[in-house]
Amino acid sequence: MDWIKVASAQELSNDEAKTVDVAGYGVALYRIDDEFFATDSMCTHATALLSEGYVEDGCVECPLHQGRFDIRTGKAMCAPVTVDLRTHAVKREGDHIYVLSPAGK
Ligand code: FES
Repeated sequence: MDWIKVASAQELSNDEAKTVDVAGYGVALYRIDDEFFATDSMCTHATALLSEGYVEDGCVECPLHQGRFDIRTGKAMCAPVTVDLRTHAVKREGDHIYVLSPAGK
């Protein structure tokens, strides 16, 4: 598995998210308290991009039906979401943010 450079740290402020491409796979990258986290970009309930949702208190609220996930663990926190999100390993080297490629997981 490979680490893929996806962003520079300054591209995201705290409690912001963006979708990044990790070897052809859509991943939502988040910044919380100056740490970076990554999950699948697509909600597990229906078709909505979580990077367009609302980030608060370590959770992301889906923009379509307001389901919430814990960003650190991917855990589905409230209806209508019942299936956890897949999370992805992130590392920071200087200003560069890397996500471990989900290929082959
Ligand atoms: Fe995300 Fe329904 S699509 S809660």
